[in-house]
Amino acid sequence: MCGIMGYVGEKQALAVVVDGLRRLEYRGYDSAGVAVVSGGQLETRKKAGKLANLESLLGSDPLPESVIGIGHTRWATHGGPTDANAHPHVSEDGKVAVIHNGIIENFAELRDELTQAGVTLRSETDTEVVAHLLAAILPSTGMDLAEAMRLVCRRLSGAFTLVALHSDIPDVVVAARRNSPLVVGRGIGENFLASDVAAFIAHTRHAIELGQDQVVEITRDQITVTDFYGVPAEVTEYEVTWDASAAEKGGYETFMAKEIAEQPKAVADTLLGRVDAAGLLKLDEMRLTEAQLREIDKVVVIACGTAYHAGMVAKYALEHWTRLPCEVELASEFRYRDPVVNVRTLVIAISQSGETMDTLMAMRYAREQGARVLAICNTQGSTIPRESDAALYTHAGPEVAVASTKAFLTQLVACYLVALFVAQVRGNKFGDEISAIVRDLSDMPRKVDLVLDTSEEMKALAAELKDAPSVLFIGRHVGFPVALEGALKLKELAYMHAEGFAAGELKHGPIALLEEGVPVIVIVPSPTGRGLLHEKIVSNIQEVRARGARTIVIAEEGDESVVPYADHLIRIPACPTLMQPLVATVPLQVFAAAMAAAKGHDVDQPRNLAKSVTVE
Ligand code: G6P
Repeated sequence: MCGIMGYVGEKQALAVVVDGLRRLEYRGYDSAGVAVVSGGQLETRKKAGKLANLESLLGSDPLPESVIGIGHTRWATHGGPTDANAHPHVSEDGKVAVIHNGIIENFAELRDELTQAGVTLRSETDTEVVAHLLAAILPSTGMDLAEAMRLVCRRLSGAFTLVALHSDIPDVVVAARRNSPLVVGRGIGENFLASDVAAFIAHTRHAIELGQDQVVEITRDQITVTDFYGVPAEVTEYEVTWDASAAEKGGYETFMAKEIAEQPKAVADTLLGRVDAAGLLKLDEMRLTEAQLREIDKVVVIACGTAYHAGMVAKYALEHWTRLPCEVELASEFRYRDPVVNVRTLVIAISQSGETMDTLMAMRYAREQGARVLAICNTQGSTIPRESDAALYTHAGPEVAVASTKAFLTQLVACYLVALFVAQVRGNKFGDEISAIVRDLSDMPRKVDLVLDTSEEMKALAAELKDAPSVLFIGRHVGFPVALEGALKLKELAYMHAEGFAAGELKHGPIALLEEGVPVIVIVPSPTGRGLLHEKIVSNIQEVRARGARTIVIAEEGDESVVPYADHLIRIPACPTLMQPLVATVPLQVFAAAMAAAKGHDVDQPRNLAKSVTVE
């Protein structure tokens, strides 16, 4: 959801803020806006559409020089993506500018109160009320901006990160957070506020996590954090390990292309340092004791979107290696069905961003029921790992393209590591069995690298299929979540009908969709794995082909049994059944990106989506 940036220091604020917004644009790109204070005047520019539209407005109607500024890139919730609804929103006296991420749930009530007091609201957003409320407090009470912000926050319900500027206080930026992300960057003679560290890592690597219901005031030299009642808060400072250049395209045409290519390294990095000399796992950072892991009698995985597909794969690995029952649930559904979780349940929350509201709310609910929550997350300092009992970080580095690729592969690796670690601790497997699986895992970066060689074939296929009205994906066992992920990628990027099915379920309904020429992508499990599994899917390929489908078969090197039934055959390296998603997903990612490009769509920023969804 919306990207937020605030700056005060010595540099030209506008350049710093716009550069930060560029790195945050993946969060939303319906409109963008900036505000600066110069010569005691507040000046704003905002524009519907992508950041480029705002940049061209700034070219024709420049802002004055300033060392303090805020900026916003929006994913619309209340009010369409128009110039008027773009942030910042400014108070009637022109002195306060506010940007916001989240939803203020009681905004209608506050809006009525303001209207009755004679205030004219100029947008349809929930955000604008905050600018007017701050302006109403400030002149009459002599409060400072942070105090006024605390007072206003106490009146708000819902989720919000708010950042405000006041023209009479030209050296202070104030921000607040409840249920929405905000990090502080500590520089030398300059300080930053942003939705995530990517916005400021080019300037500083010192970051401060903000807790729930906190207000922060930054000046050039000071950072002051309190709760909503003004009580000073202790802060945790950490060093950002991401490299600034990791958030650049580095010569690739799109971030997605770069992130797909980075997958062998991302998988290797996620394995790094997690195996001891004896080939056993050591996950010290997980913060769950062996005794706690032994007490578990059930695992529940919660996640959204692509992370949910990683969770589906986790179920197969967990149940197979640990013999613990495992449920996988969409985070948005979890807390509404009265799920059976208790102190003996291990809940695994998977989230690239660590900020997805559905996942956050589900994990909070699980903790309220007494469950222990382990977060698998890619973003240091984000809310989900912070609020979890334990965390295992994926080391994918910053993922900028909205459609998740390298984060997915590293989530799979993290799931394998957790499942295997639980098996190791609980004694479900002998040490030599664990180390044999670890060896297989350690060979996966090489295999992911090999599978990238299929990219040209996948692009050629996309050129052929770009006008297909729909594409179906089928798989069994761990190939089923891969089929779902392949279809999701195609929907997200190519805006076309795409569906993934469990291959065995096809005959129970979806087979009616088949007609001459419909492309069906089949993920074929290893022929050396579970015997029946392979055999069954070979029959499924024949079934769809017999009904006129065009079969695109993704099968292991050396699997000759599928050759007669494949209109297109894509070869992937042989690997253990459970690990096949690490290689089988990659050609599907390339295919979806190529389909989008062939249709002329923006691969990195597909319409209507946002990378980090911080509303429910
Ligand atoms: C959004 C993104 C998806 C992502 C999902 C979960 O819908 O567009 O790509 O998979 O959120 O995000 P998370 O950060 O929790 O993994």
